[in-house]
Amino acid sequence: MNNILTIDGPSGVGKGTVARIMAQKLGWNLLDSGAIYRAFALAIDEREIDISDENALVEVANGLDLEFKIQPESQLVSVFLDGEEVSKTLRTQQTGELASRLATVKNIRLALLKRQREFAQPPGLVADGRDMGTVVFVQAPVKIFLTADAAERANRRLKQLQQQGSKGIISQILAEVKARDERDCSRKYSPLKPAKDAVTIDTTELSIDEVIFQVNKLVTNN
Ligand code: C5P
Repeated sequence: MNNILTIDGPSGVGKGTVARIMAQKLGWNLLDSGAIYRAFALAIDEREIDISDENALVEVANGLDLEFKIQPESQLVSVFLDGEEVSKTLRTQQTGELASRLATVKNIRLALLKRQREFAQPPGLVADGRDMGTVVFVQAPVKIFLTADAAERANRRLKQLQQQGSKGIISQILAEVKARDERDCSRKYSPLKPAKDAVTIDTTELSIDEVIFQVNKLVTNN
């Protein structure tokens, strides 16, 4: 299947929003690969698996009972782990942090690869994450790499938290964003970097509509 649009970039850059809007516009399927890493982290945490036991980690990754369901009204994706809805729990800072640590392990990445590739179904797929264009869907004809200043990404995170009725401290969020960037970019396997054939868009000064306009142009001109 060749209708694949990949959107990679660091945390808090807005990939998820751009990917969701593009999938809606194109009528394509949507893969939030970060949610797979987060659900895996949640499973490890809930089962109290020793994170230094690689065999046990890979066994859980291979047997992960995970389901994504699209809510028809909002087009938002609900995630079910072992039959239980975990969409909200997935988004916590703690789960993101554990996901990012576990995502450095090569055999875990390999175990989760097939599950991600299964999303490539007609009529097309919009996939967002860190290595969609470099590893998971190298054949994708349009690859986007979104960037934005860390301070702007931390601001966006804070606003998102506030909209959800939660609080946050900007200096703390910024430190977390930077720590996650550092780990995601410096890991040995599938580090966060633009694919050679990706188009990089710096979104620091752009609205979501402006980003969508640029991405849409790249897809329709392809
Ligand atoms: O994108 P999100 O913040 O939900 O991802 C959580 C963590 O999962 C990231 O910090 C990253 O370490 C890992 N991840 C990854 N590869 C992907 C998607 C997410 O390593 N394709």
